[in-house]
This record gives sequence, C-alpha cells and structure tokens, in this order.
Amino acid sequence: MKKLIIVLLTSLTINSFGQHALFIPDTLSGTSFNLRVHRDSIQFAAGKITQTLAINNQPILGLTLFLKKGDSVSLNVINEIGDTTTMHWHGLHVAPKNDGGPKTMIMDGMNWNPQFVVRNNAATYWYHPHFMQKTASQAIKGDAGLIIVRDDAEAALTLPRRYGIDDFPLVVQSVELDTQNQFMPRGMVDSIVLVNGTTTPTVSIPAQVVRMRLLNGSGERSFNFGFTANKSFYVIGNDGGLLNAPVSTTRIRLSPGERAELLINLTGMMGQNIHLMSYASEIPMGVQGGPTMPMPPGSPLMNSPLNGIDFNILAISVGAQTSAAITTIPTTLVSDVPYAASSAIATRFINMTADSMMVMDGPFYFNHNLFNMNRVDYKIPLNNTEIWTLYDSTMVAHPFHLHDTHFYILDRNGVAPPATEQGRKDVLLIQPNETVRFIAKFEDFADTSTPYMYHCHILMHEDDGMMGQFIVGTTFEGVKEQHLTNSRILVYPNPTNGTLHIHLSETNTALTTLYKVYDASGHEILNELMNGSELELNTTNWLKGVYSLLVINNEYIKSLNFVVK
Ligand code: C2O
Ligand code: CU
Ligand code: CU
Repeated sequence: MKKLIIVLLTSLTINSFGQHALFIPDTLSGTSFNLRVHRDSIQFAAGKITQTLAINNQPILGLTLFLKKGDSVSLNVINEIGDTTTMHWHGLHVAPKNDGGPKTMIMDGMNWNPQFVVRNNAATYWYHPHFMQKTASQAIKGDAGLIIVRDDAEAALTLPRRYGIDDFPLVVQSVELDTQNQFMPRGMVDSIVLVNGTTTPTVSIPAQVVRMRLLNGSGERSFNFGFTANKSFYVIGNDGGLLNAPVSTTRIRLSPGERAELLINLTGMMGQNIHLMSYASEIPMGVQGGPTMPMPPGSPLMNSPLNGIDFNILAISVGAQTSAAITTIPTTLVSDVPYAASSAIATRFINMTADSMMVMDGPFYFNHNLFNMNRVDYKIPLNNTEIWTLYDSTMVAHPFHLHDTHFYILDRNGVAPPATEQGRKDVLLIQPNETVRFIAKFEDFADTSTPYMYHCHILMHEDDGMMGQFIVGTTFEGVKEQHLTNSRILVYPNPTNGTLHIHLSETNTALTTLYKVYDASGHEILNELMNGSELELNTTNWLKGVYSLLVINNEYIKSLNFVVK
C-alpha cells in the first residue's frame, strides 16, 4: 500500500513538468575544439528559471565531442563561470597534465589548452569539472558532456552510428531542485530524472536496430536500466571499449560515472510504444537508488521518491524505418584480451571506511585517510601491471573510479564478474562487505609532478574527500614497492581440528588486514577486518573439509588452503 502511494506522488510531481521532446546535444568534431563554459539558465517548467552552467550556448550539458583514435587534438576550455574550475576527460588515457584533475585549475576568465593524441578505443566517454570540493556543484548544474571516440575496429563493424538517427546519446541524471527551482548539488531527495537535460522526455526511434549510449551522470543514484515488457537488448560496450561479443540481457545497472552501449532491435515494431525504465525495485539496499535505509535521527533527508521503485526514464515511440537501416545484431565485435592475473607484479588494497558503522551520508575515506592534495598515496612504476583489491566496510555502495587507465575486473567475492563487466572499465560499483579485485596496467605517461586521481564517483563523497592520488614515474628510489609474496603467512597447525593460527610475519602491526575464509563450495564463512598480525580461529565446530583463506592488506594479497579434520 505504501509503495503505491509513493508511486502516485512521484508521477504527479514529474507530470507537472509535462512531456518534452528529448533534446539531442549538438556535436563538435575534428581535431580542434573550443569549449566555452559559462552561466546560463533553463526552464524545466514554464516561467520557472533554473540557473545552469552551460557550454557553447547550449543551455544545459556540453556538446558531444567526436574524437578519432590516433588524432592529435587540441581542446581549448574557456572559463566564464565566475569561479575557478577544471575540465576532466573521464576515461581518456592522457598524460596527467592533460587530465584536468583538481590541480589543473582554470581561473575565471582564463583558458586551458590541453593537446594530446587520442589513444582510446572506440567507446563513450565524458567530460566534467573536477575542482576541489566543487565537482558536485559544478557538474550537477549541467557542466558535463559526452565524448564519442571512433576507431577503425569499430568502423569495420555493421553497427548503427548515425548520431540522433539510429545512435542515441542518453545522459541520465536525477536531480533535486530547491523551492526556488535551483539545483541542489548535494540533494538526495532527487525526484526529477533528466535525459540530456530534458524532463519527462519522449523520443521517436526508427523500427530497426538502434544503438543507445547510456551515461549515468548523476551525483549519487544508480539506475537499473531495462525496457518495458522485459524486452531484451544487447550490451555491446562498456566504459572503455566494445565487448568481444554482444551480451543479451534485460537489465544493465549503471552507477554514477559508468557508461554502456546497447543495441535494441525494434524491427517490425513501428507504431508501438515502449519505455526505457529504471527497475530500481531490484536494486539492493545499500546501493543509492535501492530502498531508503532507516536513518539515525538527525540525518539529512535521503528518502527520494525514486528509491526502490520502478520508474520511467524515456518514453519511446517506434517510428518508420530509415533508409540503410541495420536490422541484425552482429555476433562478434572486437577481440580484447584482459591482462593475465599472473602478469601482476604489485598489489594494493583499498578499504572504504567511515567514522563508524552507522554512517550513511559520509564523510567516507580510503584506508581511513581523507583526500590530501599534498599527499601522494601511491607511487607506481611506469608499466606496472597491478592487482588492486577493494573492500567496502561501510554501509553504502561506492562507484570506484580510476583515472589514467582502464582496468579489468578479476572477481567479485572470488567470482568472475558478469559478461557485461568483463571489458575495459574505469568505474565499478562496490557494495557493502564486498571484495572486488581488478587488474590494470599503468602505461605511457610518467610524470612525478602531477598526480592522477582515484575516487568515489558519488560526487558528494568525492567532494568530502573520498579520493586519493597516485603518480606514475620511471624510477622511485627509496620507495618500497609492493610485491606479491608467497612466504609471509603462516597457518598452523594444518590440518587442524581446534585453534587455527594465522600469523603474518614482517607485517607492520598498524596495517589493516582483511581475512576471508571460503568453504569448499565457495561460500564465504568468515569476513574479518582487523589490525595486527595474528588471527586465531576456533574451528572445533566446523565441518570437515578443505577451506580457502584469503588474506588481503596494503602489502600483499595471498590465498591458501587449509584442512579441518
Ligand atoms: Cu568522472 Cu575523476 O572523474
Ligand atoms: Cu575520470
Ligand atoms: Cu562513495
């Protein structure tokens, strides 16, 4: 009953804005791009003016930039917003000085002109400001746009690629407006869904195979995308490139910062109406967008009416087929081979932490450290292949984002990720109590004076300090590198039927270590995070059999088996 009432209220709120034709951002292509960022405004409802940050006179969201792999490009960002800003090319593999991180400030009235060779594979990337503590307030006002990279491998495939005709950019954001109709960058009662800056959007799409490039550009909300009537679609690409083959599915969940490219076959459906939805009733609690968690008294409001319910994102009416329509789905795409786990020569461990287990709105930290512009968290030797292990010890899920390079997810709680997550990624959502490992290689750009960032892409978490920085260098004298090790863990007696001792030798006792034990069928039976170098387990009541132990900390990751007899 309660759910029904919420649904009605939501649709009333949204319908008061009326239905609008989906806005398709203009495009810029070539090798030289001028982006003038300035103040503007938009009326989501007649007479109600919302201030925005705009690019090149388009009232909200930046123009879509088309880049070609291999081109040398020059991007000139002109800041006319009345405040300092930066511009970050999210997902592009560029040198740190071209990356537009918090240190690469563009003062009001000034411009910034990064120049680089496009090295990325064909995929959908985006750009947005990254200024210290102001990413949310600037990006949420509309200062963000898509980057579509093309390359020869993609061009050789029979895929829809006519922008706005059979290839649709869809920047999805949920926002909250205050009583004066102004954006609330930290608002978590976000009840308005924008697609390309359009409220309650509707679009006509031809009756053929069409491509959709989805970006979750929200500050905090995850969407669980799907179509009405459970119509299946194909995921063909994610953050950093095309997948090796289309993956048929009915859902794709994207957390803030993540992208996916879809194909949907509407052949023969002319005259029908379908909706792109978020099936948020299927999102687990703990992920923002799932059911609202019970909050301790005095907490900020987080009870958005969109939490935990299924809602419309985009109304689609299927129109006439175009000429030269594509009507089939390719069976294969590219061949991209992930780095082998055995090629990793270093590991890092990042624990998502908070001041207490009860914290749901932050601040959140990495390994108990707040972001510090003057602290370099990791010094990474150029060309290192590394395995990073993430663990979330907080109550909420975090979309973890890595600059510089893409990564491949190795496993989630020891299990290989679903096919849609098996390509090149730059954001991954980690849930409470989950362990995720990825592998990445830090190639091409060494510069010890400008760091790259890694951070949570929930913008208020990032602004509050859930961010770290790393530099990539050719030599790091005097810096201890973190190597995989085989010899530092003692587990005894093995086999055991009483107390099992796990002892880490040579370990800094202040180090936080995560211990996990899985039984022979892969069920997690222990998940302990503790400081110190010694853990004792009483195995007296355990079933006889082989168990595997996983030990992870900032110095190493190790798994080994033991037997309970
Ligand atoms: Cu999309 Cu560091 O950012
Ligand atoms: Cu980024
Ligand atoms: Cu976070």
